[in-house]
Amino acid sequence: MLYNLKEILQLSQKGKNAVAAFNVFGYEDAYAVVQAAEKLNKPVILMANRDAIAHMGAQIIGSIILQLAEKSTVPVCVHLDHSLTVEAVGDAIEAGFTSVMIDASQLPFEENVAVTRQVVEMARPKNVSVEAEIGSVGYSDSNMRTNAVFTDPEQAKQFAQVTGADAVAVAVGTVHRMVTQGVNLQFDRLDQISGLLEVPIVIHGSTGVSDDDLSRLVRHGAQKINLGTTLRMAFGNTLRKQVEENPKEFDRIRLFSKCMEAVQEKAEEKINLIS
Ligand code: G3H
Ligand code: ZN
Repeated sequence: MLYNLKEILQLSQKGKNAVAAFNVFGYEDAYAVVQAAEKLNKPVILMANRDAIAHMGAQIIGSIILQLAEKSTVPVCVHLDHSLTVEAVGDAIEAGFTSVMIDASQLPFEENVAVTRQVVEMARPKNVSVEAEIGSVGYSDSNMRTNAVFTDPEQAKQFAQVTGADAVAVAVGTVHRMVTQGVNLQFDRLDQISGLLEVPIVIHGSTGVSDDDLSRLVRHGAQKINLGTTLRMAFGNTLRKQVEENPKEFDRIRLFSKCMEAVQEKAEEKINLIS
């Protein structure tokens, strides 16, 4: 069942549960995530990020995940993650994505507002939802030159009101692309934001969050939890093991089979922590 972001987040209850959003890079991980969601009978969001779009284009990754979403027995949203340009948003809408994130969080406030409003105006008539970011979640990866800025609660309220975004990503201490868990989160800041925002709150960079804190983020108001690196590690580390243990195997379908199982298992674990 194909849903947009606004519709799928309406299935979550603020303070009680959230919808997991996973970065996927092709058929194998996307299929495994949908299998996890169906097994647990929970909605899920499949996200294509800039790396996936650069690798195969919005049409190709879009059609793979749209097919999986349409055939699924649970609600699935097909989302463009961290788009830096209005043009990339346009490509995703054309490819059938039901949700887009415009990330103008590195720009000054007024420019972030202006770009986000432009995307909302473009997406809304097509029933495509829009996520935007205020404050900025940083990266552990030094190649990503991003200036991390904590979200100011009052500014987040103003941002949500003037942009009309359907969901707002905030920075409360998470860091993208962590390969270990253990970031320090500012739950007081999240509480303040949660008390002021009417639209759903999104947490990025959730791989680096401990299991306890992941559940806590939900109790403090997060309704969309973004996870990427954790699944890439599950897939890649399993693939390495498969290749090492089966030196004569060259068939990718056979090599990928255990990787898909590992991704499904990790996705189930994360979904269970937040819903
Ligand atoms: O937008 C994607 C997420 O924020 C993924 O972050 O790879 O650190 O889990 P992560
Ligand atoms: Zn992110």
